Amino acid sequence: VEAFRARYGPVAAVLGAGQGIGRAFALALAARGLDLLLVDVARAPLDAVCAEAEAAGARARGLVLDLGTEAADAALAAEARQARIGLAVYTAVRSLVGPFLDETPGTLRTALAVNCGGAQAACRALAPPMVERGRGGIVLLSSLAGLQGTGFVAAYAAAKAFDLTLAEALWWELGEAGVDVLGLVAGSTDTPGFRAGRPRLETGAVLDAPEAVAREGLDHLADGPVWICGEGNRRIAEALAALPRRERVGAISASTRALFAGPPGLAPPTRRP
Ligand SMILES: NC(=O)c1ccc[n+]([C@@H]2O[C@H](COP(=O)([O-])OP(=O)(O)OC[C@H]3O[C@@H](n4cnc5c(N)ncnc54)[C@H](OP(=O)(O)O)[C@@H]3O)[C@@H](O)[C@H]2O)c1
Repeated sequence: VEAFRARYGPVAAVLGAGQGIGRAFALALAARGLDLLLVDVARAPLDAVCAEAEAAGARARGLVLDLGTEAADAALAAEARQARIGLAVYTAVRSLVGPFLDETPGTLRTALAVNCGGAQAACRALAPPMVERGRGGIVLLSSLAGLQGTGFVAAYAAAKAFDLTLAEALWWELGEAGVDVLGLVAGSTDTPGFRAGRPRLETGAVLDAPEAVAREGLDHLADGPVWICGEGNRRIAEALAALPRRERVGAISASTRALFAGPPGLAPPTRRP
């Protein structure tokens, strides 16, 4: 705990901390002795996570901010000047599930602003003090869907490819200054956001726990530029990478569409520990 706090403390910022993987990161970071700046777009879930983190012994402050807007640039820059943020984890997301042509132009723009613009803004605002101190870390969440084009979540997958590529490049640029940057690739994870896409869990989908994603991300902060969470997901990524591009895109697109729009089956959902 002490070495972790010395390398990545005293304050961690979790952007998109109100639920799901962001909430799991917040609580895991509290357990590792960091104080927290928790950002989300709504006040109530943020307050709840702050209370949970404080019960775990951390000092936690909630900041309501729409990370998809330009206002986030100045707000995050101000936080970077005041709070001693040594670690930033970007988990905010607008997920889009379904045929691309069913989305409105406005929804697509908003999602792009949160999923890509917000991640980029967080890196730009929060990295400079880390570089000055010569230590720190940044985690950007990506997805198996972002390792290639994935139909039925086309815009989401493209955004996750952006996040992964940004993380890889910053791993190289900021690594020289002592800042660990990690593109963290998660598979299907049991979060409110994932469930909001109404997956057919009765078809036997295996979901990861958000706590497992956070734990692996923090354990492998210095193992960038990319870390794929979970043995099962690493095997899927390997199998996909071995396929010719057309087959690869076809396989993941078909399984994604089946997960969200396929016929109901019989097997119960499984959740990995
Ligand atoms: N769950 C999965 O299966 C999975 C798989 C691979 C990768 N990931 C990645 O993991 C990350 C977290 O996913 P998750 O499933 O935990 O998501 P989630 O359950 O939807 O939680 C995301 C959080 O971000 C907040 N948020 C959305 N828009 C925001 C904005 N403009 N400004 C500030 N906060 C905003 C959400 O608030 P509201 O609820 O109020 O919108 C929510 O609290 C994402 O980057 C996702 O791509 C997830």
